[in-house]
Amino acid sequence: MKVYSVKDLLVEDLLLQEVSVKGWVRTFRSNRFIALNDGSTIHNIQCVVDFENTSEDVLKRITTGAAIRIKGTLVESSGKGQKVEIQANQLEILGDSHPEEYPIQPKKHSLEFLREKAHLRTRTSTFGAVMRVRSTLSFAVHQYFQNNGFNYVNTPIITGSDAEGAGEMFRVTTLDPRNPPLQEDGSVNYKEDFFGKETNLTVSGQLEAEAYAMSLGKVYTFGPTFRAENSNTSRHLAEFWMIEPEVAFMDLDGDMDLAEDFIKYVIRYALENCKDDLEFLEKRLSDEEKTKPQNERSDMTLTEKLRFVLDNNFKRVSYTEAIDILRNSKPNKKKKFQYIIEEWGADLQSEHERYLVEKHFKCPVILFDYPAKIKAFYMRLNDDGKTVRAMDILFPGIGEIVGGSQREERYDVLLEKVKAMGIDEKELWWYLDLRKYGTAVHSGFGLGFERLVLFTTGMTNIRDVIPFPRTPQNAEF
Ligand code: 4AD
Ligand code: MG
Repeated sequence: MKVYSVKDLLVEDLLLQEVSVKGWVRTFRSNRFIALNDGSTIHNIQCVVDFENTSEDVLKRITTGAAIRIKGTLVESSGKGQKVEIQANQLEILGDSHPEEYPIQPKKHSLEFLREKAHLRTRTSTFGAVMRVRSTLSFAVHQYFQNNGFNYVNTPIITGSDAEGAGEMFRVTTLDPRNPPLQEDGSVNYKEDFFGKETNLTVSGQLEAEAYAMSLGKVYTFGPTFRAENSNTSRHLAEFWMIEPEVAFMDLDGDMDLAEDFIKYVIRYALENCKDDLEFLEKRLSDEEKTKPQNERSDMTLTEKLRFVLDNNFKRVSYTEAIDILRNSKPNKKKKFQYIIEEWGADLQSEHERYLVEKHFKCPVILFDYPAKIKAFYMRLNDDGKTVRAMDILFPGIGEIVGGSQREERYDVLLEKVKAMGIDEKELWWYLDLRKYGTAVHSGFGLGFERLVLFTTGMTNIRDVIPFPRTPQNAEF
Protein backbone atom coordinates (compact mmCIF):
# COMPACT_ATOMS: atom_id res chain seq x y z
CA MET A 1 0.00 0.00 0.00
CA LYS A 2 1.28 3.45 -0.94
CA VAL A 3 2.60 5.51 1.94
CA TYR A 4 1.23 9.04 1.54
CA SER A 5 2.76 12.19 2.93
CA VAL A 6 0.52 14.17 5.26
CA LYS A 7 0.60 17.01 2.74
CA ASP A 8 -0.76 14.77 -0.01
CA LEU A 9 -3.47 13.41 2.28
CA LEU A 10 -4.64 16.97 2.91
CA VAL A 11 -4.67 18.17 -0.69
CA GLU A 12 -5.36 15.11 -2.85
CA ASP A 13 -8.83 13.76 -3.38
CA LEU A 14 -8.51 10.52 -1.41
CA LEU A 15 -11.73 10.47 0.59
CA LEU A 16 -12.87 6.98 1.66
CA GLN A 17 -9.72 5.38 0.36
CA GLU A 18 -7.43 3.11 2.37
CA VAL A 19 -4.22 5.00 3.08
CA SER A 20 -1.00 4.50 4.96
CA VAL A 21 1.12 7.20 6.55
CA LYS A 22 4.30 7.33 8.66
CA GLY A 23 5.32 10.12 11.00
CA TRP A 24 5.91 11.29 14.55
CA VAL A 25 3.27 11.73 17.22
CA ARG A 26 2.78 15.34 18.24
CA THR A 27 -0.01 14.70 20.74
CA PHE A 28 -2.25 11.84 21.82
CA ARG A 29 -5.53 12.82 23.47
CA SER A 30 -8.17 10.76 25.29
CA ASN A 31 -6.53 7.48 24.24
CA ARG A 32 -8.13 8.15 20.86
CA PHE A 33 -6.82 11.13 18.84
CA ILE A 34 -3.30 11.21 17.48
CA ALA A 35 -1.97 14.41 15.88
CA LEU A 36 0.62 13.07 13.45
CA ASN A 37 3.25 15.09 11.63
CA ASP A 38 5.74 13.87 9.03
CA GLY A 39 7.48 17.13 8.16
CA SER A 40 5.87 17.49 4.74
CA THR A 41 3.64 20.33 5.95
CA ILE A 42 2.99 22.50 8.99
CA HIS A 43 -0.31 20.65 9.45
CA ASN A 44 -0.82 17.47 11.43
CA ILE A 45 -3.22 14.80 10.37
CA GLN A 46 -5.61 13.55 12.99
CA CYS A 47 -5.69 9.76 13.29
CA VAL A 48 -8.52 8.25 15.28
CA VAL A 49 -7.43 5.12 17.12
CA ASP A 50 -9.77 2.21 17.47
CA PHE A 51 -8.85 1.86 21.12
CA GLU A 52 -11.07 -1.11 21.82
CA ASN A 53 -9.12 -3.18 19.32
CA THR A 54 -5.70 -1.79 20.20
CA SER A 55 -3.67 -3.47 22.87
CA GLU A 56 -2.95 -1.74 26.16
CA ASP A 57 0.77 -2.02 25.40
CA VAL A 58 0.53 -0.22 22.06
CA LEU A 59 -1.72 2.52 23.49
CA LYS A 60 0.90 3.18 26.19
CA ARG A 61 3.61 3.53 23.55
CA ILE A 62 1.79 6.21 21.54
CA THR A 63 3.65 9.09 23.16
CA THR A 64 4.82 12.48 21.93
CA GLY A 65 7.83 12.00 19.66
CA ALA A 66 7.25 8.31 18.88
CA ALA A 67 7.55 7.22 15.24
CA ILE A 68 4.50 5.28 14.06
CA ARG A 69 2.83 3.87 11.00
CA ILE A 70 -0.91 4.10 10.55
CA LYS A 71 -3.15 2.39 8.07
CA GLY A 72 -6.79 3.29 7.76
CA THR A 73 -9.57 5.03 5.87
CA LEU A 74 -9.47 8.71 5.05
CA VAL A 75 -12.79 10.19 6.14
CA GLU A 76 -14.33 13.60 6.58
CA SER A 77 -13.59 14.99 10.00
CA SER A 78 -16.20 16.47 12.27
CA GLY A 79 -13.45 17.95 14.43
CA LYS A 80 -12.54 21.64 14.35
CA GLY A 81 -9.70 22.86 12.12
CA GLN A 82 -9.39 19.86 9.82
CA LYS A 83 -11.29 18.62 6.82
CA VAL A 84 -10.15 15.01 6.90
CA GLU A 85 -8.84 12.46 9.36
CA ILE A 86 -7.75 8.84 9.28
CA GLN A 87 -9.94 6.24 10.86
CA ALA A 88 -7.08 3.96 11.85
CA ASN A 89 -7.46 0.20 11.59
CA GLN A 90 -3.80 -0.71 11.99
CA LEU A 91 -1.17 0.98 14.07
CA GLU A 92 2.48 0.05 14.35
CA ILE A 93 5.03 1.62 16.68
CA LEU A 94 8.22 2.07 14.65
CA GLY A 95 10.28 3.84 17.30
CA ASP A 96 9.42 4.57 20.92
CA SER A 97 10.01 7.93 22.52
CA HIS A 98 10.55 7.96 26.26
CA PRO A 99 7.69 10.14 27.52
CA GLU A 100 9.50 11.51 30.57
CA GLU A 101 12.81 12.15 28.85
CA TYR A 102 11.68 13.53 25.50
CA PRO A 103 12.47 17.27 25.71
CA ILE A 104 10.01 18.52 23.07
CA GLN A 105 6.76 18.34 25.00
CA PRO A 106 3.49 19.59 23.53
CA LYS A 107 3.73 23.03 25.12
CA LYS A 108 5.39 26.30 24.24
CA HIS A 109 9.17 26.08 24.59
CA SER A 110 11.34 29.19 24.45
CA LEU A 111 13.60 29.62 21.42
CA GLU A 112 16.58 29.80 23.79
CA PHE A 113 15.69 26.42 25.28
CA LEU A 114 15.26 24.93 21.84
CA ARG A 115 18.66 26.25 20.70
CA GLU A 116 20.20 23.90 23.24
CA LYS A 117 18.36 21.06 21.53
CA ALA A 118 19.26 21.86 17.92
CA HIS A 119 18.96 18.19 16.92
CA LEU A 120 15.34 17.99 18.08
CA ARG A 121 14.01 21.52 17.66
CA THR A 122 13.16 20.90 14.03
CA ARG A 123 10.32 18.70 15.29
CA THR A 124 8.47 21.78 16.50
CA SER A 125 6.02 23.62 14.25
CA THR A 126 8.11 26.80 14.28
CA PHE A 127 11.37 25.19 13.20
CA GLY A 128 9.65 22.90 10.73
CA ALA A 129 8.13 25.97 9.08
CA VAL A 130 11.38 27.96 9.11
CA MET A 131 13.40 25.12 7.58
CA ARG A 132 10.83 24.46 4.84
CA VAL A 133 10.85 28.16 3.95
CA ARG A 134 14.67 28.08 3.97
CA SER A 135 14.66 25.14 1.59
CA THR A 136 12.16 26.83 -0.73
CA LEU A 137 14.21 30.04 -0.73
CA SER A 138 17.36 28.17 -1.72
CA PHE A 139 15.46 26.53 -4.57
CA ALA A 140 14.29 29.99 -5.68
CA VAL A 141 17.88 31.28 -5.57
CA HIS A 142 19.02 28.62 -8.03
CA GLN A 143 15.91 29.04 -10.14
CA TYR A 144 16.42 32.80 -10.48
CA PHE A 145 20.01 32.53 -11.60
CA GLN A 146 19.55 29.46 -13.79
CA ASN A 147 16.59 31.12 -15.54
CA ASN A 148 18.68 34.20 -16.18
CA GLY A 149 21.70 32.58 -17.82
CA PHE A 150 24.02 32.38 -14.80
CA ASN A 151 26.36 29.44 -14.21
CA TYR A 152 26.69 27.99 -10.72
CA VAL A 153 30.34 27.97 -9.62
CA ASN A 154 31.70 26.13 -6.59
CA THR A 155 34.52 28.10 -5.04
CA PRO A 156 37.05 26.65 -2.60
CA ILE A 157 36.35 26.38 1.11
CA ILE A 158 40.03 26.09 2.01
CA THR A 159 41.92 29.02 0.56
CA GLY A 160 45.13 30.99 0.87
CA SER A 161 43.51 34.39 0.35
CA ASP A 162 41.61 36.73 2.61
CA ALA A 163 38.95 37.95 0.20
CA GLU A 164 37.77 40.76 2.43
CA GLY A 165 41.18 41.72 3.77
CA ALA A 166 39.62 41.98 7.22
CA GLY A 167 41.66 39.30 8.97
CA GLU A 168 38.60 37.43 10.24
CA MET A 169 39.67 33.97 9.16
CA PHE A 170 39.62 30.55 10.74
CA ARG A 171 43.01 28.99 10.26
CA VAL A 172 43.15 25.57 8.64
CA THR A 173 46.04 23.51 9.81
CA THR A 174 47.51 20.08 9.32
CA LEU A 175 50.04 20.69 12.08
CA ASP A 176 50.21 18.27 14.98
CA PRO A 177 49.37 20.47 17.98
CA ARG A 178 51.52 18.26 20.22
CA ASN A 179 54.52 18.61 17.97
CA PRO A 180 54.32 21.81 15.89
CA PRO A 181 57.21 22.97 13.73
CA LEU A 182 59.09 25.69 15.56
CA GLN A 183 60.96 28.68 14.27
CA GLU A 184 64.41 29.67 15.52
CA ASP A 185 62.93 31.92 18.22
CA GLY A 186 60.84 29.01 19.53
CA SER A 187 57.47 30.22 18.20
CA VAL A 188 55.22 28.00 16.08
CA ASN A 189 55.84 28.27 12.35
CA TYR A 190 52.32 28.66 11.01
CA LYS A 191 53.62 29.15 7.49
CA GLU A 192 53.70 25.35 7.41
CA ASP A 193 49.99 25.05 8.18
CA PHE A 194 48.63 23.34 5.12
CA PHE A 195 51.35 21.12 3.75
CA GLY A 196 53.70 24.10 3.74
CA LYS A 197 51.21 26.90 3.08
CA GLU A 198 49.22 29.25 5.28
CA THR A 199 45.52 28.58 4.71
CA ASN A 200 42.13 29.46 6.13
CA LEU A 201 38.44 28.84 5.65
CA THR A 202 36.98 31.11 3.01
CA VAL A 203 35.29 34.36 4.07
CA SER A 204 33.84 34.86 0.58
CA GLY A 205 33.97 33.16 -2.81
CA GLN A 206 34.07 36.49 -4.61
CA LEU A 207 37.66 36.55 -5.85
CA GLU A 208 37.36 33.10 -7.42
CA ALA A 209 33.90 33.99 -8.79
CA GLU A 210 35.50 36.97 -10.51
CA ALA A 211 37.89 34.61 -12.30
CA TYR A 212 34.90 32.65 -13.59
CA ALA A 213 32.89 35.76 -14.53
CA MET A 214 35.83 36.71 -16.74
CA SER A 215 35.23 33.61 -18.81
CA LEU A 216 31.64 32.43 -18.29
CA GLY A 217 30.23 35.96 -18.15
CA LYS A 218 27.50 35.49 -15.55
CA VAL A 219 28.16 33.28 -12.53
CA TYR A 220 26.94 32.81 -8.98
CA THR A 221 28.14 30.94 -5.93
CA PHE A 222 25.96 29.62 -3.12
CA GLY A 223 28.00 28.08 -0.36
CA PRO A 224 29.19 28.22 3.22
CA THR A 225 31.47 31.03 4.33
CA PHE A 226 33.20 31.56 7.64
CA ARG A 227 34.02 34.58 9.77
CA ALA A 228 36.08 34.32 12.91
CA GLU A 229 34.41 37.35 14.42
CA ASN A 230 33.49 37.08 18.04
CA SER A 231 30.27 38.98 17.65
CA ASN A 232 27.35 37.87 19.72
CA THR A 233 24.56 39.55 17.86
CA SER A 234 21.27 38.34 16.47
CA ARG A 235 22.61 39.05 12.94
CA HIS A 236 26.00 37.29 12.94
CA LEU A 237 27.11 33.69 12.62
CA ALA A 238 30.60 32.26 12.45
CA GLU A 239 29.42 29.97 9.62
CA PHE A 240 26.83 31.27 7.19
CA TRP A 241 25.76 30.71 3.60
CA MET A 242 26.38 33.36 1.03
CA ILE A 243 25.06 33.86 -2.48
CA GLU A 244 27.51 35.75 -4.67
CA PRO A 245 26.66 36.60 -8.27
CA GLU A 246 29.42 38.12 -10.41
CA VAL A 247 28.83 39.56 -13.88
CA ALA A 248 31.26 40.68 -16.59
CA PHE A 249 30.58 43.95 -18.42
CA MET A 250 28.16 45.12 -15.70
CA ASP A 251 28.59 48.35 -13.75
CA LEU A 252 27.30 49.31 -10.30
CA ASP A 253 23.90 50.48 -11.57
CA GLY A 254 23.40 47.09 -13.19
CA ASP A 255 24.53 45.46 -9.95
CA MET A 256 21.89 47.34 -7.95
CA ASP A 257 19.18 46.45 -10.50
CA LEU A 258 20.21 42.79 -10.33
CA ALA A 259 20.21 42.67 -6.53
CA GLU A 260 16.80 44.31 -6.24
CA ASP A 261 15.24 42.10 -8.90
CA PHE A 262 16.76 38.96 -7.36
CA ILE A 263 15.64 39.71 -3.80
CA LYS A 264 12.11 40.50 -4.94
CA TYR A 265 11.97 37.30 -6.98
CA VAL A 266 12.95 34.99 -4.14
CA ILE A 267 10.69 36.64 -1.58
CA ARG A 268 7.76 36.53 -4.00
CA TYR A 269 8.53 32.87 -4.68
CA ALA A 270 8.37 32.09 -0.94
CA LEU A 271 5.12 34.03 -0.55
CA GLU A 272 3.55 32.01 -3.34
CA ASN A 273 4.96 28.62 -2.42
CA CYS A 274 5.07 28.62 1.40
CA LYS A 275 1.59 29.93 2.15
CA ASP A 276 0.78 27.64 5.08
CA ASP A 277 4.20 27.96 6.72
CA LEU A 278 4.20 31.74 6.37
CA GLU A 279 0.69 31.95 7.76
CA PHE A 280 1.88 30.01 10.80
CA LEU A 281 5.00 32.20 11.14
CA GLU A 282 2.90 35.33 10.82
CA LYS A 283 0.80 34.22 13.77
CA ARG A 284 3.98 33.39 15.73
CA LEU A 285 5.37 36.86 15.05
CA SER A 286 2.19 38.63 16.05
CA ASP A 287 2.11 36.62 19.31
CA GLU A 288 5.73 37.64 19.92
CA GLU A 289 4.91 41.28 19.21
CA LYS A 290 2.16 41.17 21.83
CA THR A 291 4.75 40.40 24.51
CA LYS A 292 6.55 43.68 23.76
CA PRO A 293 5.69 47.07 25.24
CA GLN A 294 3.14 48.93 23.10
CA ASN A 295 5.60 51.51 21.72
CA GLU A 296 8.04 48.84 20.48
CA ARG A 297 5.46 46.79 18.62
CA SER A 298 5.51 46.67 14.86
CA ASP A 299 2.21 47.61 13.32
CA MET A 300 2.87 45.45 10.26
CA THR A 301 2.12 41.76 9.86
CA LEU A 302 4.72 39.48 8.29
CA THR A 303 2.89 39.42 4.96
CA GLU A 304 2.64 43.20 4.99
CA LYS A 305 6.39 43.43 5.61
CA LEU A 306 7.14 41.11 2.69
CA ARG A 307 4.66 42.84 0.39
CA PHE A 308 6.18 46.17 1.38
CA VAL A 309 9.56 45.06 0.01
CA LEU A 310 7.97 43.75 -3.18
CA ASP A 311 5.83 46.84 -3.79
CA ASN A 312 8.43 49.54 -3.22
CA ASN A 313 11.44 50.59 -5.23
CA PHE A 314 14.54 50.36 -3.07
CA LYS A 315 15.68 53.92 -2.38
CA ARG A 316 19.17 54.60 -3.80
CA VAL A 317 21.17 57.08 -1.75
CA SER A 318 24.87 57.95 -1.78
CA TYR A 319 26.89 57.60 1.41
CA THR A 320 27.48 61.36 1.39
CA GLU A 321 23.73 62.09 1.22
CA ALA A 322 23.12 59.55 4.00
CA ILE A 323 25.67 61.25 6.26
CA ASP A 324 23.92 64.58 5.70
CA ILE A 325 20.59 63.03 6.62
CA LEU A 326 22.07 61.49 9.78
CA ARG A 327 23.79 64.73 10.78
CA ASN A 328 20.63 66.76 10.28
CA SER A 329 18.34 64.28 11.97
CA LYS A 330 17.35 65.45 15.38
CA PRO A 331 16.76 62.25 17.23
CA ASN A 332 14.83 62.90 20.40
CA LYS A 333 16.58 62.42 23.71
CA LYS A 334 15.43 58.90 24.27
CA LYS A 335 16.35 57.65 20.82
CA LYS A 336 19.59 59.58 20.51
CA PHE A 337 22.23 57.70 18.53
CA GLN A 338 24.94 56.28 20.64
CA TYR A 339 27.45 57.27 17.96
CA ILE A 340 26.66 60.60 16.38
CA ILE A 341 28.40 60.84 13.04
CA GLU A 342 30.43 64.02 13.00
CA GLU A 343 32.91 63.19 10.29
CA TRP A 344 32.46 62.23 6.68
CA GLY A 345 34.33 58.94 6.36
CA ALA A 346 33.00 57.22 9.48
CA ASP A 347 31.58 53.74 9.11
CA LEU A 348 27.85 53.46 9.72
CA GLN A 349 26.74 51.56 12.79
CA SER A 350 23.67 49.37 12.58
CA GLU A 351 21.67 51.99 14.52
CA HIS A 352 22.39 54.49 11.71
CA GLU A 353 21.40 51.99 9.05
CA ARG A 354 18.17 51.21 10.85
CA TYR A 355 17.39 54.91 11.31
CA LEU A 356 17.74 55.48 7.56
CA VAL A 357 15.56 52.49 6.63
CA GLU A 358 12.98 52.42 9.38
CA LYS A 359 12.59 56.07 10.34
CA HIS A 360 13.75 58.23 7.46
CA PHE A 361 13.04 56.49 4.14
CA LYS A 362 10.71 53.81 5.49
CA CYS A 363 11.68 51.40 2.71
CA PRO A 364 14.69 49.25 1.75
CA VAL A 365 17.68 51.47 0.98
CA ILE A 366 20.69 50.97 -1.28
CA LEU A 367 23.62 53.05 -0.08
CA PHE A 368 26.40 53.54 -2.62
CA ASP A 369 29.73 55.32 -3.17
CA TYR A 370 31.23 54.71 0.26
CA PRO A 371 34.57 56.17 1.39
CA ALA A 372 37.39 53.99 0.06
CA LYS A 373 38.97 53.79 3.51
CA ILE A 374 36.15 51.80 5.09
CA LYS A 375 35.68 49.32 2.23
CA ALA A 376 37.61 46.35 0.83
CA PHE A 377 40.61 46.69 -1.50
CA TYR A 378 38.90 45.33 -4.62
CA MET A 379 36.25 48.03 -5.05
CA ARG A 380 36.52 50.40 -8.01
CA LEU A 381 37.87 53.83 -7.15
CA ASN A 382 35.74 56.77 -8.28
CA ASP A 383 37.19 59.79 -10.09
CA ASP A 384 37.05 61.82 -6.85
CA GLY A 385 39.86 59.59 -5.59
CA LYS A 386 38.19 59.06 -2.19
CA THR A 387 35.01 57.05 -2.75
CA VAL A 388 34.50 53.60 -4.23
CA ARG A 389 31.71 52.04 -6.28
CA ALA A 390 30.35 50.05 -3.35
CA MET A 391 26.74 49.37 -2.46
CA ASP A 392 25.06 47.96 0.62
CA ILE A 393 21.38 47.07 0.75
CA LEU A 394 19.73 47.84 4.06
CA PHE A 395 16.53 46.16 5.16
CA PRO A 396 14.04 46.99 7.89
CA GLY A 397 14.70 45.03 11.06
CA ILE A 398 17.84 43.48 9.57
CA GLY A 399 20.25 46.23 8.56
CA GLU A 400 22.75 45.16 5.90
CA ILE A 401 21.46 42.23 3.86
CA VAL A 402 23.68 42.69 0.77
CA GLY A 403 27.18 44.02 0.28
CA GLY A 404 28.51 44.47 -3.24
CA SER A 405 30.52 46.61 -5.62
CA GLN A 406 31.86 47.28 -9.06
CA ARG A 407 35.35 45.77 -9.00
CA GLU A 408 38.59 47.60 -9.73
CA GLU A 409 39.42 46.34 -13.21
CA ARG A 410 42.48 48.58 -13.78
CA TYR A 411 45.68 46.72 -13.06
CA ASP A 412 47.73 49.73 -11.90
CA VAL A 413 45.03 51.18 -9.68
CA LEU A 414 44.38 47.79 -8.08
CA LEU A 415 48.07 47.13 -7.47
CA GLU A 416 48.50 50.49 -5.81
CA LYS A 417 45.46 49.90 -3.61
CA VAL A 418 46.69 46.46 -2.57
CA LYS A 419 50.05 47.92 -1.57
CA ALA A 420 48.51 50.90 0.21
CA MET A 421 46.34 48.57 2.29
CA GLY A 422 49.38 46.57 3.35
CA ILE A 423 48.27 43.38 1.57
CA ASP A 424 51.01 41.13 0.25
CA GLU A 425 50.64 41.41 -3.54
CA LYS A 426 52.30 38.01 -3.96
CA GLU A 427 49.26 36.37 -2.35
CA LEU A 428 47.02 37.98 -4.97
CA TRP A 429 49.15 37.27 -8.05
CA TRP A 430 46.43 35.29 -9.75
CA TYR A 431 43.79 37.93 -8.95
CA LEU A 432 46.01 40.63 -10.44
CA ASP A 433 46.52 38.40 -13.49
CA LEU A 434 42.80 38.74 -14.30
CA ARG A 435 43.48 42.44 -14.92
CA LYS A 436 46.36 41.66 -17.27
CA TYR A 437 44.50 39.43 -19.70
CA GLY A 438 41.28 40.84 -21.13
CA THR A 439 40.22 42.89 -18.16
CA ALA A 440 36.70 44.34 -18.22
CA VAL A 441 34.23 46.24 -16.11
CA HIS A 442 32.52 43.77 -13.77
CA SER A 443 30.42 43.77 -10.62
CA GLY A 444 28.83 41.52 -8.08
CA PHE A 445 27.41 41.28 -4.61
CA GLY A 446 27.04 38.95 -1.65
CA LEU A 447 23.75 38.23 0.04
CA GLY A 448 23.81 36.61 3.47
CA PHE A 449 21.34 33.76 3.04
CA GLU A 450 20.43 33.56 6.74
CA ARG A 451 19.62 37.27 6.81
CA LEU A 452 17.23 36.67 3.92
CA VAL A 453 15.64 33.71 5.74
CA LEU A 454 15.43 35.82 8.90
CA PHE A 455 13.56 38.56 7.07
CA THR A 456 11.24 36.22 5.17
CA THR A 457 10.25 34.12 8.19
CA GLY A 458 9.92 37.05 10.62
CA MET A 459 12.20 35.30 13.11
CA THR A 460 14.28 37.60 15.28
CA ASN A 461 17.53 35.72 15.86
CA ILE A 462 19.78 34.45 13.06
CA ARG A 463 20.55 31.36 15.19
CA ASP A 464 16.99 30.23 14.63
CA VAL A 465 17.10 30.14 10.84
CA ILE A 466 20.09 27.83 10.26
CA PRO A 467 19.85 24.16 11.28
CA PHE A 468 22.96 24.05 13.47
CA PRO A 469 24.20 27.56 14.30
CA ARG A 470 27.93 28.14 14.75
CA THR A 471 28.47 31.01 17.17
CA PRO A 472 30.84 31.55 20.06
CA GLN A 473 28.21 29.70 22.18
CA ASN A 474 26.96 27.03 19.81
CA ALA A 475 29.37 24.66 18.17
CA GLU A 476 28.49 21.49 20.03
CA PHE A 477 26.41 19.73 17.41
O1 4AD B 1 29.54 42.60 3.18
P1 4AD B 1 30.26 41.28 3.08
O2 4AD B 1 31.38 41.04 4.01
O3 4AD B 1 30.73 41.20 1.56
C1 4AD B 1 31.48 40.21 0.99
O4 4AD B 1 31.87 39.21 1.54
C2 4AD B 1 31.70 40.41 -0.49
N1 4AD B 1 32.85 39.61 -0.89
C3 4AD B 1 30.45 40.04 -1.24
C4 4AD B 1 30.58 40.23 -2.73
O5 4AD B 1 30.65 41.35 -3.19
N2 4AD B 1 30.64 39.15 -3.48
O6 4AD B 1 29.21 40.10 3.25
C5 4AD B 1 28.10 40.00 2.37
C6 4AD B 1 26.83 39.70 3.14
C7 4AD B 1 26.44 40.77 4.15
O7 4AD B 1 25.74 41.83 3.52
C8 4AD B 1 25.58 39.97 5.11
O8 4AD B 1 24.28 39.81 4.58
C9 4AD B 1 26.25 38.62 5.13
O9 4AD B 1 27.01 38.53 3.93
N3 4AD B 1 27.14 38.45 6.28
C10 4AD B 1 26.86 37.70 7.36
N4 4AD B 1 25.77 36.94 7.65
C11 4AD B 1 25.77 36.27 8.82
N5 4AD B 1 26.81 36.28 9.69
C12 4AD B 1 27.92 37.03 9.44
N6 4AD B 1 28.94 37.00 10.30
C13 4AD B 1 27.97 37.76 8.22
N7 4AD B 1 28.89 38.57 7.64
C14 4AD B 1 28.38 38.98 6.47
MG1 MG C 1 29.45 44.30 4.25
